[in-house]
Amino acid sequence: MTESNKTITVLGAGYVGLTTAALLAHAGFTVYVLEPNPLRLNVIKEGKSFFFEDGIDILISTAIENGTLIPTDSYTESVPKSSIVFSCVGTPDNPDGSTNLTYVFSAATSALECMQQGAIFAQKSTVPVGTGTRIETLFAESDKNIAYVSNPEFLREGTAVYDTLYFDRVVAGGKDHTSVEAILAVYKSLESHRETIATLASINTHERTGTYIATSLNSAELIKVTANAFLALKISFANSIAKLSDAVGADINEVMDAVGADERIGRKFLNAGRGFGGGCFPKDVSGLIASGLEYGVQMEIMTAAQDVNYSMPGYVAEKLIRGLHTDIRGSHVAVLGLSFKAGTSDVRKSPGIAIANLLSKSGAIVSVYDPQSNSEAAEHLDRNINIVESMEAATKDTAAVVIATEWEEFLGCDLASLKEAMDGSLFVDAVNRFDTKELEKHGFSYQGVGR
Ligand code: UGA
Repeated sequence: MTESNKTITVLGAGYVGLTTAALLAHAGFTVYVLEPNPLRLNVIKEGKSFFFEDGIDILISTAIENGTLIPTDSYTESVPKSSIVFSCVGTPDNPDGSTNLTYVFSAATSALECMQQGAIFAQKSTVPVGTGTRIETLFAESDKNIAYVSNPEFLREGTAVYDTLYFDRVVAGGKDHTSVEAILAVYKSLESHRETIATLASINTHERTGTYIATSLNSAELIKVTANAFLALKISFANSIAKLSDAVGADINEVMDAVGADERIGRKFLNAGRGFGGGCFPKDVSGLIASGLEYGVQMEIMTAAQDVNYSMPGYVAEKLIRGLHTDIRGSHVAVLGLSFKAGTSDVRKSPGIAIANLLSKSGAIVSVYDPQSNSEAAEHLDRNINIVESMEAATKDTAAVVIATEWEEFLGCDLASLKEAMDGSLFVDAVNRFDTKELEKHGFSYQGVGR
């Protein structure tokens, strides 16, 4: 391997980019991570991540010290030295639900200007099927012979380091077989370093062999959105059955435990509750619907999944309002959990925030608390909502509490003290994680989603 073959540039230092860069910097590569936002770049230069993610800070700080991770905002400092450029820039959604590809194309155009002859451009950003072909056309206008490979990412926020080290599969798709194999080889190198990296990041190690899958370009692009859409579909399916469970007096957890015990179905992603949020599922579902429309294919099944998901925060708020047995206007309620799931400070499309805003609009006096995302949530919350610094402050003298994110701090809380602090007894478990009997023993009136 030449020095250039061991040098990589990662464009964009979001969850995917920074995790990928930090890990590859411990797997035998010199990695430039390019971040145009000066505030974020400065945090990374100090050896930290600007978002909360288990295990990542130590990987960043040690790699910067070793000189294998170089944060920069300059294409010309990084890209010309690299044989591979991974693009991990943001793909927000447009108001019509389609994917906004502005950053994807500007990153590809800027990289093209300074990429070395014969380099590989690997796309990790989630893009609609057909995007790679458009970028290939752009690359064909230069004489640099750049190979384009789609290399979709499957890591989850909150377990990003673990997921990248102990992947189920790595997918790479493109026309040039050698370039596809070169991308897969990067992950093989990561796999060969993973025990050392996991130990450094204090992540549990595992005996696990992931699969390497080489595909065509369009298949790779479609694999990514299909995987996310299917998981979102499972959740909305579980939430539909949860509504029926509520109507007939069944327990959705019992139902899904038994249904998921069938290996053909599997138990994962069948947890009913306040619905899915985050920067991926809502966007990828609407992106897939928009892609379908572009090619004349109706994705009714995904529209249904989307509709169910939109309904869930309102369904939870309704449960609280009905369970109060008093006027919601002027009642004190607490919403615990503002990130879209535990283990992350990310609040994009967060169901907890949606529930808090709905309750506030209904006239409730709402207090909210999240162990990691209070400040990130602030700009998305109704002006009247009180953001407080502890679970105790949020729940003091409230008539009801909603658990909207499955943080350990909430799941393991002292129920007796909570009941004591509250004025009322309504406990809305929007993540379906509490033991109903245990809560009732402490004098709570329990409301789950489908329980
Ligand atoms: C998701 C996918 O799981 C990753 O494989 C993918 O790489 C990522 O999107 C992406 O495209 O970048 P992520 O959004 O980080 O990862 O989070 P998940 O753990 O998948 O959870 C998404 C949402 O679904 C959360 O709000 C979670 O609370 C909710 N959820 C999950 C449920 O409501 N029920 C479940 O059973 C599981």
